[in-house]
Amino acid sequence: MNLPPTPAINGRTAVVPLLAYPSEHVRTPGFFNQYCSEHGINAVMVPWKVSPSGLPAAIEAIRQIENIPGFVITIPHKQEVCRHCDTLEGLAEVMGVCNAVRKNADGTLAGRMYDGRGFVQGLQDRGIPLAGASVLLAGAGGVATAIAFELAGSQVRRIGIQNRSLDKGCELAEQLSRRFPGLDIELNPQHVEAYDIAVNGTSLGLRPDDPLPFDPSKLRQDTVVAEVVMQPDITHLLQRASENGQRIHKGVHMVTTQIKLLVGFTTGHTG
Ligand SMILES: NC(=O)c1ccc[n+]([C@@H]2O[C@H](COP(=O)([O-])OP(=O)(O)OC[C@H]3O[C@@H](n4cnc5c(N)ncnc54)[C@H](OP(=O)(O)O)[C@@H]3O)[C@@H](O)[C@H]2O)c1
Repeated sequence: MNLPPTPAINGRTAVVPLLAYPSEHVRTPGFFNQYCSEHGINAVMVPWKVSPSGLPAAIEAIRQIENIPGFVITIPHKQEVCRHCDTLEGLAEVMGVCNAVRKNADGTLAGRMYDGRGFVQGLQDRGIPLAGASVLLAGAGGVATAIAFELAGSQVRRIGIQNRSLDKGCELAEQLSRRFPGLDIELNPQHVEAYDIAVNGTSLGLRPDDPLPFDPSKLRQDTVVAEVVMQPDITHLLQRASENGQRIHKGVHMVTTQIKLLVGFTTGHTG
């Protein structure tokens, strides 16, 4: 088996816990440690399996342990951890969820949300312009919501939300319009050829027999088709879009970009 390289651990190694429950499925430590190893950053991520009732004690321990500069949080702690932060920065404050916490020099904890940022910066890093763009977004769950807020904050002109459960789609549209009153929001748009970028923000595509979240052949040929699903690397949606000659953007870009941001925020190293 090909395991990712692990950083050499010594007395100066910064330890970044990943708080999860359960924790057996988490993949972030592999990506995080590979990134640190490749960039010569003396930090290591370890999974901490912390139940909801154990969260306060885990955070108290983190406050006491001096070589923990910050930590990362995943399901089910992303909301609850906000109650333990002294400050919430950017969208974490708006959304009331965060997935990374930095310990400041004075011992205070600052929380941020990088789920949507990783996706949006991944697009920008690959030269896909967002300012003034119209984006079709399938989904209204945790990841799609984070992406929608980041897109809106990146000056897109219009977001079209398409979700199986209409009530959740409406709720996301209302949240967005409260926060970004100038944003053009369309619910379940019919004329999808108006969109420059189309994003699958649902979990459709994980299983081989999943239906497509939307039909790429209904989009323009110059529409970029993007994914959050990263397993398989090329989903059926991306496969179909490629066959149509559309530019594709894979789900893995979201995680690799986010890892860089998480390492920077929690350890202070920018690689
Ligand atoms: N690339 C990355 O770095 C990264 C990181 C995290 C997650 N992800 C991906 O993001 C996906 C979504 O995560 P999440 O946290 O947003 O999940 P979530 O909160 O459970 O939301 C799931 C979304 O998918 C929709 N959906 C699920 N099954 C469907 C079906 N059969 N037909 C139509 N719509 C369906 C849901 O619609 P309803 O509202 O109608 O239920 C909802 O909009 C994950 O499965 C994972 O693949 C990627």
